[in-house]
Amino acid sequence: MTLKTPLLFGLSMLALASPAAARECVRSPSKILELCVSVADGKALYEVTRGEVTVIAPSRLGLAFAGEADPRYAAITDVARGASDTTWEQPWGEQRLIRDDHGELRVTLAGDTPLSRAVGVTFRLFDDGFGFRYDYAAIPAGQAVAVTADHSQFRTVGTYQAWWYEALGVDRDEYLYKQSDARRITLAETPLTLKGDNGLYLSFHEAALVDFPSMLLRGNGAGTYDAWLMPWPDGTLAKKTGPFATPWRTVLVGDSPAALADSRITLNLNEPSKLPDVGTWFKPGKYVGVWWEMHLEKSTWGSGPKHGATTANVKRYIDFAAKYGFDGVLVEGWNRGWDGDWIANGDKFSFTEAYPDFDMDAIARYGKAKGVKLIGHNETGGAIENYARQLDAALKLYADHGVSVIKTGYVRPSGTMVDGEGGQQWFAGQYAVRHHLDVVQRAAKHHIAIDTHEPVKDTGLRRTWPNWVSREGARGQEFNAWGDPSNPPEHMTILPFTRLLGGPMDFTPGIFDIVRGGKALTRRVQSTLATQLAEYVVVYSPIQMAADLPENYEARPDAFRFIRDVPADWETSKTLQGAIGDYVVVARQARGGGDWYLGAIGDEEARNLDQPLSFLAAGKRYEAQIYADAPGADYRTNPEALAISRRIVTRADTLALALAPGGGAAVRFRLLD
Ligand code: NOJ
Ligand code: CA
Repeated sequence: MTLKTPLLFGLSMLALASPAAARECVRSPSKILELCVSVADGKALYEVTRGEVTVIAPSRLGLAFAGEADPRYAAITDVARGASDTTWEQPWGEQRLIRDDHGELRVTLAGDTPLSRAVGVTFRLFDDGFGFRYDYAAIPAGQAVAVTADHSQFRTVGTYQAWWYEALGVDRDEYLYKQSDARRITLAETPLTLKGDNGLYLSFHEAALVDFPSMLLRGNGAGTYDAWLMPWPDGTLAKKTGPFATPWRTVLVGDSPAALADSRITLNLNEPSKLPDVGTWFKPGKYVGVWWEMHLEKSTWGSGPKHGATTANVKRYIDFAAKYGFDGVLVEGWNRGWDGDWIANGDKFSFTEAYPDFDMDAIARYGKAKGVKLIGHNETGGAIENYARQLDAALKLYADHGVSVIKTGYVRPSGTMVDGEGGQQWFAGQYAVRHHLDVVQRAAKHHIAIDTHEPVKDTGLRRTWPNWVSREGARGQEFNAWGDPSNPPEHMTILPFTRLLGGPMDFTPGIFDIVRGGKALTRRVQSTLATQLAEYVVVYSPIQMAADLPENYEARPDAFRFIRDVPADWETSKTLQGAIGDYVVVARQARGGGDWYLGAIGDEEARNLDQPLSFLAAGKRYEAQIYADAPGADYRTNPEALAISRRIVTRADTLALALAPGGGAAVRFRLLD
């Protein structure tokens, strides 16, 4: 299908208002899910079923405000229904065309407090999940209000397993997931993914997190999860001005892990792009950088004899990038402020002054001549106000030097971000949520994209602000340099069904020197080389790093070929198989071409997977270039053994994938005719 931009087609039925009943229901387009809202005993409740199965038992709705008692609800006073089936186009992404097919129910709840006398709630039901948001449209314009509770609740029925970590830890979202009975959840970050004995997979999250605190979920020990918002230092949850709407609270509902991974609900519940021309100033691509060498302690961010960001060293990376077709070079440690304890002294960072041995003008000229862009780096040490103050001058400086992407960083214990008024802010409270979007919006004015590390979780805002291209927000490759322990193999089989449901991740794949002279297993990459290649397909990001040192790539030109070939932008993506914590197989079709790529990653067990190739185009032949674990490969004893083979395949074939312990497979399907 070829379509002209601007692309939005389909049918939207305007909401039809009608008198409200005591209980109002809406179904998803294919009637897979049904949601009903009702008022009983002063509480506003919603419930969701999937056929005979109760997904969410009657669960509370609504906010509470400072100066008021908890509202009691008397009735649904208004109801409106709608349905919409449209398709829109991403400027780049894991999938070019996104279908948004949903049923909608809007109700007004009559509460007994001044601020809750007319609470709008909009529910959108998709076949693979739902979302709801509150609309406090009746609060007079300009009236300041303080949210003190979010009563949104998710009551599950039956037994579920969960993949989660304890929220509010000092390292923000950089933790290994544990699997447990979901009833053991205390306080969990979202996306929070559950697998039920009833065969259902659920993932709780939110969409369009704008000017509101990030939502965590608190378990009650019996399968109920309550919204828990990261507060301001004074205990207020959200400071708002009337009228306002909240982010969407979302639940993906599927009968396989793959159904969660291929859901596009999070994007669909965000507003359309506010940057219609972004495609003229940002292009997806791959980068290398002065980065891994610091994490290996071969060089330093700070000044001195081992300083990494020297003009000569950066030119060396630019030469490498130009030679092998990379678009960018990331340089960390170029600016003043790294010397000493930079986490404690983030307010010392300058974002415009370079160290004397980093000649920004000369480097920018050199890069331009070689067709390679600099990727800027702004580590803030969580001193947010210090960064915000310098931001406009910094962005101008970078734009003048041809920088089109900035990687930001907020390394600081999660509840101690510095707000300039002596406040200790959560890394994803309303203050931080505002800050991160402010950076993205100001960067857009300079045609600069943002890749946030130690970020607020991704809630699909890249649809509205496509220059928010990627984020970290989980344990990434860096933990394989110095983590104790480093990421175990199953980590990469959990991420696609948890953190990555939120959006792209700057994981920084592609470490080739896995053994590093015999480092202990739990202090180095715990995977085979084939897995490192598969990560480029399994983890979506429109900026993908080749993270290892240039010399390690030049030592393995055979494996490096895959990194050079794999694109960072896709026509479509499909999760083909997966079991959370065990294995995952993903296929993606290159955007603007007929080639397909496949990535398979397993946990610590050896595993044989048969993968039908029915996703390939009918009537076409492909050369499958297969990068597999060689016989005897094992992440513990023989991780770098790679077998590369080629064969002709069609969609009628099945690929037998033999994954070694900690292993994987990466395949390019080159379209032949
Ligand atoms: C943590 C980031 O995730 C990492 O990529 C970066 O190198 C360091 N902070 C220093 O900013
Ligand atoms: Ca990090």
